[in-house]
Amino acid sequence: MSNGIISVDQAVSQLEDSKVVAIPTETVYGLAGRIDSEDALNLIFSTKQRPFFDPLIVHVSSVEQAKTLVSWWPKEADLLANGFWPGPLTIVLPKNRDSVSDLITSGLDSVALRFPGHPIAQEIVKKLGVPLAAPSANMFGKTSPTSAEHVLEEFSSTVAVVDGGPADHGIESTVLELVGSEKGSVTSIQIYRPGTITKSQIESCLGPTISVNYSQSKVSPGHVENHYQPNKPLYSFLGPYTKNEIQSELSDVLEGESEIHVIELEEPSAIVARKLYSEIRKADKQAGSKKTLVMEIRKFDSSDDWAAIEDRLNRASRKLFKKS
Ligand code: TXA
Ligand code: MG
Repeated sequence: MSNGIISVDQAVSQLEDSKVVAIPTETVYGLAGRIDSEDALNLIFSTKQRPFFDPLIVHVSSVEQAKTLVSWWPKEADLLANGFWPGPLTIVLPKNRDSVSDLITSGLDSVALRFPGHPIAQEIVKKLGVPLAAPSANMFGKTSPTSAEHVLEEFSSTVAVVDGGPADHGIESTVLELVGSEKGSVTSIQIYRPGTITKSQIESCLGPTISVNYSQSKVSPGHVENHYQPNKPLYSFLGPYTKNEIQSELSDVLEGESEIHVIELEEPSAIVARKLYSEIRKADKQAGSKKTLVMEIRKFDSSDDWAAIEDRLNRASRKLFKKS
């Protein structure tokens, strides 16, 4: 791996040896290690400088494999898997203690499962024959990588990466938990992290009898307040703000307009999601001596389609301003 880019077969062989490698997924790149190796799991946490209280998502290459990791697979899990897998949906269910270690789940009784849509991610899990734990391939609290180049930059080329091109969705998967009594029925769905699969898509998949709610629960501890942060302070404006409005909102933090580097996105939500993190990374580098980053999302509205973007910008920004 002279330049840090490796092939699928090289990645599989390194994973067999309990090393970690970065792999492409349709959401963001992941830092992957086999779930049955304590060494690999420890390496994920140490490479990212991730605290052990933040549980990992387990990536599978089939629904059958997912079922081996849980102690309960209700019919709603089948509905969601049929509707959205492979794809950017992570399903949290009670774990099978024999196949999922406490290191993966930070001691929780549940495990987060995802069947990624990216063909390279699928191929790697299939060839290895063991599910992969994979958080986003960035230092803890920093912006997730959406290209192989971002991964190399993030870890100064110390982590090998399989190049699967720019990530299609660009922001992390929707994380939800099926809540109910074990072996009984599902009573509600808690969305811990919004993503490209929206609340209304989940509602129409499951029908009217199950309530779907956003949850701020501490159960999903990785989704902390200040996450996805660029190095320079970022201020976000959702909606069509004028230059003057931005200046006046920021008057207490700015001495002059020359201090801000503006990222203006005037595109539909799917395109903004795809570009969001790479634009933040680019701005962080290009801003030079300018002290402050400003992100303008001009087409924002209050519909479900923008929920994940608002969520990520809320966490990445010092302050978020919104017109809707
Ligand atoms: O799109 C994605 O999900 C990417 C790609 C690489 O698959 N992965 C990703 O992983 O974003 P990570 O570790 O950055 O985020 C995992 C999130 C965290 O917020 C964590 O707290 C939550 O999932 N999580 C993991 N296990 C959980 C569990 N048992 N219960 C609740 N939340 C859980
Ligand atoms: Mg992450």
